[in-house]
Amino acid sequence: FDGKNVTLWKYESWLPVRKRVSLNEGGTPLYRLSNLERELGVELYAKNEGANPTGSFKDRGMTVGVSKALELGMDKVICASTGNTSASLAAYAAKAGIKAYVLVPSGKIALGKLAQAIIYGARVVPVKGNFDDALRVVVEASAKLGVYMLNSINPFRLEGQKTIALEIYDQLGFVPDNVVLPVGNAGNISAIWKGFKELYEKGITDELPRMIGIQAEGAAPLARAWKAKKPFEPVENPETVATAIRIGNPANWPKAWRAVEESGGLFESVSDGEILRAQELLASREGLFVEPASAAPLAGLMKLLESGELDRGESYVLVTTGHGLKDPNVVVNRFTLPKPIEPTLEAFREVMK
Ligand code: F0G
Repeated sequence: FDGKNVTLWKYESWLPVRKRVSLNEGGTPLYRLSNLERELGVELYAKNEGANPTGSFKDRGMTVGVSKALELGMDKVICASTGNTSASLAAYAAKAGIKAYVLVPSGKIALGKLAQAIIYGARVVPVKGNFDDALRVVVEASAKLGVYMLNSINPFRLEGQKTIALEIYDQLGFVPDNVVLPVGNAGNISAIWKGFKELYEKGITDELPRMIGIQAEGAAPLARAWKAKKPFEPVENPETVATAIRIGNPANWPKAWRAVEESGGLFESVSDGEILRAQELLASREGLFVEPASAAPLAGLMKLLESGELDRGESYVLVTTGHGLKDPNVVVNRFTLPKPIEPTLEAFREVMK
């Protein structure tokens, strides 16, 4: 019994699938970031995708994708992943009672995500190499070995993820001027743009947002090409503290490029330092703990407001894509705790001074 929970299946008629493997995904909160609004002088919201069942927006794509796998009679599913996709696929495959193979870059996946993939019962396969290497193997395996591929090249993933746009509109009651989100394999930015376009084409809305895609400096093939006005070129050895978006050759880059171009948006990149500072700001000012990749949008917004490329008079929705607990190490490694005190009031009184 799933009760009267509000999930993305509220938009069932917008989704091209008949079966339903669900963990009650979607229906995530939209926060007004009132403290940061005062500091930055803009109208600012966060769509908190960390509130999904496995802690990231990937659940929206997986509920539709795994449902489609069942509809097609597939009993094995596969993905390459920097972590969140693998956690999500593992959970939905468990619920569906089918086998999941997840290929992850060896040693480069956040602890929480690895724990999730393991405990949900997926076959976790570390790969010598990065996400781009793992994805190549997955694409070949899905063509030759009878496993259903659930990376975001799969169009049903994007159908699920477009519901982020539908929910933002429902929750705000208007179309925001700008949607700012992290870009890795470049599926989500295309999916959200598709959602806003469908709202517009059905005559439900008469406006469209600008799509602002933020990448990490060491893994920024799209931002680099965009800013230099040069053709797209993959990045050979992507590197960033935001392991979720440590991707050098985004499979969906042409779709993402089109979304940004059509919407009048832009791509920007931010440094690891800027990402970690934004992560701390979201947590310490707003009580919103997100993983590093999900702090990239705030870092990007601050950079673009500073440079004058974005306007303070507009509204901004940050898509905070994954929960902070996914990657506890990145936080605890940055801060050192003080030495333990004696268990006495006197010792604590000293602390308070
Ligand atoms: N934010 C988080 C937390 C992610 O996990 C990802 C992608 C993105 C943003 C970027 O989204 O790829 O659609 O541009 N993670 C994938 C994974 C690659 O394997 O979990 P995208």
